[in-house]
Amino acid sequence: MEVIVRPAADAAAYLVARMIARELRATPQLVLGLATGRTMESVYCHLVRMYREDRLDFSLCRTFNLDEYVGLPATDRHSYRHYMDHNLFHQVNIDRRNTHLPDGCAPDLAAECRRYEDAIRRVNGIDLQLLGIGRDGHIGFNEPLSALRSRTREKALSPRTLAQNAPLFDNPANMPRRAITMGVGTILESRRCLLLATGAEKADIIAKAVEGPITAMISATALQLHPRCTVIVDEAAAGRLTETEYYRWVFANEPEWEPFRDGTDATPPPCPCD
Ligand code: F6R
Repeated sequence: MEVIVRPAADAAAYLVARMIARELRATPQLVLGLATGRTMESVYCHLVRMYREDRLDFSLCRTFNLDEYVGLPATDRHSYRHYMDHNLFHQVNIDRRNTHLPDGCAPDLAAECRRYEDAIRRVNGIDLQLLGIGRDGHIGFNEPLSALRSRTREKALSPRTLAQNAPLFDNPANMPRRAITMGVGTILESRRCLLLATGAEKADIIAKAVEGPITAMISATALQLHPRCTVIVDEAAAGRLTETEYYRWVFANEPEWEPFRDGTDATPPPCPCD
Protein backbone atom coordinates (compact mmCIF):
# COMPACT_ATOMS: atom_id res chain seq x y z
CA MET A 1 0.00 0.00 0.00
CA GLU A 2 1.10 3.55 -0.68
CA VAL A 3 -0.32 6.79 0.67
CA ILE A 4 -0.21 10.08 -1.20
CA VAL A 5 -1.11 13.24 0.69
CA ARG A 6 -2.24 16.24 -1.37
CA PRO A 7 -2.77 19.74 -0.02
CA ALA A 8 -6.54 19.96 -0.55
CA ALA A 9 -9.57 17.87 -1.53
CA ASP A 10 -9.69 19.07 -5.12
CA ALA A 11 -5.96 18.43 -5.59
CA ALA A 12 -6.46 14.86 -4.32
CA ALA A 13 -9.44 14.27 -6.66
CA TYR A 14 -7.54 15.76 -9.59
CA LEU A 15 -4.60 13.43 -8.95
CA VAL A 16 -6.95 10.43 -8.96
CA ALA A 17 -8.52 11.62 -12.23
CA ARG A 18 -5.07 12.00 -13.76
CA MET A 19 -4.10 8.48 -12.68
CA ILE A 20 -7.27 7.07 -14.24
CA ALA A 21 -6.72 9.10 -17.42
CA ARG A 22 -3.17 7.84 -17.72
CA GLU A 23 -4.30 4.21 -17.46
CA LEU A 24 -7.12 4.81 -19.93
CA ARG A 25 -4.80 6.38 -22.49
CA ALA A 26 -2.39 3.44 -22.13
CA THR A 27 -5.19 0.84 -22.33
CA PRO A 28 -8.26 2.18 -24.17
CA GLN A 29 -10.28 -0.97 -23.40
CA LEU A 30 -9.53 -0.61 -19.68
CA VAL A 31 -11.93 -2.32 -17.26
CA LEU A 32 -12.65 0.30 -14.62
CA GLY A 33 -14.28 -0.39 -11.27
CA LEU A 34 -16.22 2.68 -10.18
CA ALA A 35 -17.54 4.09 -6.92
CA THR A 36 -20.22 6.65 -6.13
CA GLY A 37 -20.62 9.11 -3.25
CA ARG A 38 -19.83 12.75 -2.61
CA THR A 39 -16.05 12.30 -2.71
CA MET A 40 -16.12 10.90 -6.25
CA GLU A 41 -18.11 13.75 -7.76
CA SER A 42 -15.05 15.91 -8.35
CA VAL A 43 -13.08 12.97 -9.80
CA TYR A 44 -15.82 12.48 -12.42
CA CYS A 45 -15.96 16.22 -12.98
CA HIS A 46 -12.24 16.28 -13.83
CA LEU A 47 -12.66 13.27 -16.13
CA VAL A 48 -15.49 15.06 -17.95
CA ARG A 49 -13.25 18.10 -18.41
CA MET A 50 -10.43 15.89 -19.72
CA TYR A 51 -12.87 14.31 -22.19
CA ARG A 52 -14.02 17.73 -23.40
CA GLU A 53 -10.68 19.53 -23.45
CA ASP A 54 -7.98 16.85 -23.70
CA ARG A 55 -9.78 14.25 -25.84
CA LEU A 56 -9.78 11.58 -23.18
CA ASP A 57 -11.50 8.70 -24.98
CA PHE A 58 -13.96 6.43 -23.14
CA SER A 59 -15.34 4.72 -26.26
CA LEU A 60 -13.74 1.32 -25.59
CA CYS A 61 -13.68 1.47 -21.81
CA ARG A 62 -15.77 -0.99 -19.76
CA THR A 63 -17.03 -0.12 -16.27
CA PHE A 64 -18.36 -2.03 -13.27
CA ASN A 65 -19.75 -0.15 -10.31
CA LEU A 66 -19.24 -1.39 -6.79
CA ASP A 67 -22.81 -1.29 -5.62
CA GLU A 68 -26.47 -0.40 -5.98
CA TYR A 69 -29.34 0.04 -3.55
CA VAL A 70 -31.89 -2.77 -3.38
CA GLY A 71 -35.30 -1.69 -4.64
CA LEU A 72 -34.33 1.50 -6.49
CA PRO A 73 -34.90 1.43 -10.26
CA ALA A 74 -32.41 3.14 -12.60
CA THR A 75 -34.97 5.93 -13.08
CA ASP A 76 -34.90 6.84 -9.37
CA ARG A 77 -32.62 9.82 -8.92
CA HIS A 78 -31.19 8.32 -5.72
CA SER A 79 -30.04 5.17 -7.52
CA TYR A 80 -26.38 4.75 -8.28
CA ARG A 81 -27.23 4.13 -11.95
CA HIS A 82 -28.73 7.61 -12.02
CA TYR A 83 -25.69 9.04 -10.20
CA MET A 84 -23.32 7.50 -12.77
CA ASP A 85 -25.39 8.59 -15.76
CA HIS A 86 -25.57 12.11 -14.40
CA ASN A 87 -21.98 12.53 -13.21
CA LEU A 88 -20.10 10.64 -15.92
CA PHE A 89 -21.76 8.35 -18.45
CA HIS A 90 -24.01 10.93 -20.10
CA GLN A 91 -21.19 13.43 -20.29
CA VAL A 92 -18.48 11.39 -22.03
CA ASN A 93 -18.33 9.11 -25.09
CA ILE A 94 -18.72 5.84 -23.20
CA ASP A 95 -20.86 3.12 -24.79
CA ARG A 96 -23.74 2.58 -22.37
CA ARG A 97 -23.69 -1.17 -23.13
CA ASN A 98 -20.20 -1.24 -21.58
CA THR A 99 -21.38 0.27 -18.28
CA HIS A 100 -22.48 -2.16 -15.57
CA LEU A 101 -24.12 -1.83 -12.18
CA PRO A 102 -25.85 -4.53 -10.18
CA ASP A 103 -29.63 -4.47 -10.69
CA GLY A 104 -31.11 -3.74 -7.27
CA CYS A 105 -34.60 -4.50 -8.63
CA ALA A 106 -33.81 -7.97 -10.01
CA PRO A 107 -36.49 -10.49 -9.02
CA ASP A 108 -33.83 -12.93 -7.80
CA LEU A 109 -31.09 -10.92 -6.09
CA ALA A 110 -28.84 -13.91 -5.40
CA ALA A 111 -28.91 -14.80 -9.12
CA GLU A 112 -28.21 -11.16 -9.97
CA CYS A 113 -25.11 -11.23 -7.74
CA ARG A 114 -23.85 -14.38 -9.48
CA ARG A 115 -24.54 -12.79 -12.87
CA TYR A 116 -22.51 -9.72 -11.87
CA GLU A 117 -19.53 -11.81 -10.75
CA ASP A 118 -19.71 -13.77 -14.03
CA ALA A 119 -19.80 -10.54 -16.05
CA ILE A 120 -16.63 -9.32 -14.30
CA ARG A 121 -14.97 -12.68 -14.91
CA ARG A 122 -15.91 -12.63 -18.60
CA VAL A 123 -13.95 -9.39 -19.16
CA ASN A 124 -10.97 -10.95 -17.37
CA GLY A 125 -11.40 -8.94 -14.17
CA ILE A 126 -11.07 -5.31 -13.16
CA ASP A 127 -7.91 -3.44 -14.14
CA LEU A 128 -8.36 -0.39 -11.94
CA GLN A 129 -10.80 -0.17 -9.04
CA LEU A 130 -11.73 3.25 -7.70
CA LEU A 131 -12.80 3.28 -4.03
CA GLY A 132 -14.16 5.67 -1.46
CA ILE A 133 -14.43 4.85 2.23
CA GLY A 134 -17.45 5.06 4.50
CA ARG A 135 -17.29 6.38 8.03
CA ASP A 136 -17.66 2.81 9.26
CA GLY A 137 -14.72 1.76 7.08
CA HIS A 138 -16.75 0.15 4.32
CA ILE A 139 -15.48 -0.11 0.75
CA GLY A 140 -18.38 -0.58 -1.61
CA PHE A 141 -21.10 -1.44 0.90
CA ASN A 142 -19.00 -4.00 2.73
CA GLU A 143 -20.26 -3.18 6.17
CA PRO A 144 -18.61 -4.32 9.43
CA LEU A 145 -18.06 -8.07 9.60
CA SER A 146 -18.05 -8.50 5.83
CA ALA A 147 -15.93 -11.58 5.21
CA LEU A 148 -12.55 -10.64 3.78
CA ARG A 149 -13.18 -13.20 1.00
CA SER A 150 -16.78 -12.17 0.35
CA ARG A 151 -18.16 -11.97 -3.20
CA THR A 152 -20.92 -9.82 -4.71
CA ARG A 153 -23.98 -10.23 -2.51
CA GLU A 154 -26.83 -8.48 -0.77
CA LYS A 155 -25.84 -6.66 2.39
CA ALA A 156 -27.78 -4.86 5.15
CA LEU A 157 -26.52 -1.29 5.62
CA SER A 158 -25.07 -0.33 9.00
CA PRO A 159 -26.60 2.43 11.16
CA ARG A 160 -23.54 4.60 10.42
CA THR A 161 -24.01 4.18 6.66
CA LEU A 162 -27.71 4.94 6.99
CA ALA A 163 -26.82 8.12 8.90
CA GLN A 164 -24.10 9.01 6.36
CA ASN A 165 -26.31 8.67 3.27
CA ALA A 166 -29.87 9.37 4.46
CA PRO A 167 -29.41 13.16 4.08
CA LEU A 168 -28.95 12.57 0.33
CA PHE A 169 -32.54 11.31 0.06
CA ASP A 170 -35.48 13.70 -0.35
CA ASN A 171 -37.17 11.73 2.37
CA PRO A 172 -34.47 10.10 4.51
CA ALA A 173 -36.99 7.50 5.68
CA ASN A 174 -37.10 6.20 2.09
CA MET A 175 -33.42 5.26 2.01
CA PRO A 176 -33.15 1.52 1.29
CA ARG A 177 -31.70 -0.52 4.13
CA ARG A 178 -30.08 -3.06 1.82
CA ALA A 179 -27.73 -2.95 -1.15
CA ILE A 180 -25.98 -5.25 -3.58
CA THR A 181 -22.23 -4.81 -3.29
CA MET A 182 -19.12 -6.36 -4.77
CA GLY A 183 -17.47 -8.36 -2.01
CA VAL A 184 -14.15 -7.61 -0.33
CA GLY A 185 -12.74 -10.65 -2.14
CA THR A 186 -14.05 -9.34 -5.47
CA ILE A 187 -12.38 -5.97 -4.83
CA LEU A 188 -9.09 -7.58 -3.79
CA GLU A 189 -8.93 -9.38 -7.15
CA SER A 190 -8.77 -6.14 -9.11
CA ARG A 191 -5.30 -5.52 -10.51
CA ARG A 192 -4.97 -2.04 -9.03
CA CYS A 193 -6.92 -0.08 -6.39
CA LEU A 194 -7.11 3.68 -5.87
CA LEU A 195 -8.84 4.79 -2.68
CA LEU A 196 -9.71 8.47 -2.33
CA ALA A 197 -10.70 10.06 0.99
CA THR A 198 -10.98 13.75 1.79
CA GLY A 199 -12.07 15.85 4.75
CA ALA A 200 -11.42 15.74 8.48
CA GLU A 201 -14.42 13.45 9.09
CA LYS A 202 -12.48 10.67 7.31
CA ALA A 203 -9.23 11.14 9.29
CA ASP A 204 -10.05 8.61 11.99
CA ILE A 205 -11.16 5.82 9.68
CA ILE A 206 -8.27 6.41 7.25
CA ALA A 207 -5.76 6.00 10.09
CA LYS A 208 -7.45 2.73 11.10
CA ALA A 209 -7.69 1.48 7.50
CA VAL A 210 -4.07 2.24 6.62
CA GLU A 211 -2.13 1.84 9.85
CA GLY A 212 -4.42 -0.33 11.99
CA PRO A 213 -4.71 -4.11 12.19
CA ILE A 214 -6.58 -6.00 9.46
CA THR A 215 -10.08 -6.76 10.66
CA ALA A 216 -13.41 -7.71 9.12
CA MET A 217 -14.91 -4.95 11.31
CA ILE A 218 -13.29 -2.40 8.95
CA SER A 219 -13.41 -3.71 5.38
CA ALA A 220 -10.93 -1.13 4.09
CA THR A 221 -8.17 -2.70 6.21
CA ALA A 222 -8.30 -5.66 3.79
CA LEU A 223 -6.65 -3.38 1.21
CA GLN A 224 -3.41 -3.89 3.15
CA LEU A 225 -3.44 -7.35 1.53
CA HIS A 226 -3.71 -5.91 -1.99
CA PRO A 227 -0.49 -5.98 -4.04
CA ARG A 228 -1.08 -2.59 -5.66
CA CYS A 229 -3.26 -0.22 -3.65
CA THR A 230 -2.75 3.54 -3.50
CA VAL A 231 -4.58 5.67 -0.94
CA ILE A 232 -4.90 9.33 -1.92
CA VAL A 233 -5.91 11.73 0.84
CA ASP A 234 -5.97 15.46 1.45
CA GLU A 235 -4.24 16.99 4.48
CA ALA A 236 -7.46 16.87 6.50
CA ALA A 237 -8.07 13.16 5.92
CA ALA A 238 -4.35 12.47 6.60
CA GLY A 239 -4.65 14.24 9.97
CA ARG A 240 -4.42 11.11 12.15
CA LEU A 241 -1.82 9.13 10.18
CA THR A 242 1.48 8.70 12.00
CA GLU A 243 3.91 7.92 9.14
CA THR A 244 3.11 10.84 6.83
CA GLU A 245 6.74 11.92 6.59
CA TYR A 246 7.61 8.56 5.05
CA TYR A 247 4.61 8.66 2.69
CA ARG A 248 5.60 12.14 1.50
CA TRP A 249 9.17 11.00 0.88
CA VAL A 250 7.98 8.07 -1.23
CA PHE A 251 5.77 10.28 -3.39
CA ALA A 252 8.55 12.84 -3.80
CA ASN A 253 11.23 10.31 -4.73
CA GLU A 254 9.90 7.06 -6.20
CA PRO A 255 10.12 6.94 -10.03
CA GLU A 256 6.54 5.60 -10.30
CA TRP A 257 5.16 8.97 -9.20
CA GLU A 258 7.42 11.09 -11.38
CA PRO A 259 4.69 11.83 -14.00
CA PHE A 260 2.49 13.23 -11.24
CA ARG A 261 5.09 15.46 -9.60
CA ASP A 262 4.71 18.34 -12.03
CA GLY A 263 2.92 20.45 -9.44
CA THR A 264 -0.17 20.95 -11.60
CA ASP A 265 -2.44 19.54 -8.90
CA ALA A 266 -1.61 22.46 -6.62
CA THR A 267 -4.01 24.50 -8.75
CA PRO A 268 -6.24 22.02 -10.56
CA PRO A 269 -8.07 23.36 -13.61
CA PRO A 270 -11.66 24.37 -12.86
CA CYS A 271 -14.28 21.71 -13.45
CA PRO A 272 -17.22 22.25 -15.79
CA CYS A 273 -19.47 21.05 -12.98
CA ASP A 274 -18.25 23.65 -10.43
C1 F6R B 1 -20.48 3.90 -3.03
C2 F6R B 1 -19.31 3.40 -2.30
C3 F6R B 1 -19.11 3.83 -0.88
C4 F6R B 1 -18.64 5.30 -0.80
C5 F6R B 1 -18.42 5.71 0.66
C6 F6R B 1 -17.98 7.16 0.78
O1 F6R B 1 -20.47 3.41 -4.34
O2 F6R B 1 -18.54 2.67 -2.83
O3 F6R B 1 -18.16 2.99 -0.28
O4 F6R B 1 -17.46 5.46 -1.52
O5 F6R B 1 -19.60 5.53 1.38
O6 F6R B 1 -19.03 8.01 0.43
P1 F6R B 1 -18.82 9.59 0.45
O7 F6R B 1 -17.84 9.92 -0.61
O8 F6R B 1 -20.19 10.16 0.13
O9 F6R B 1 -18.32 9.94 1.80
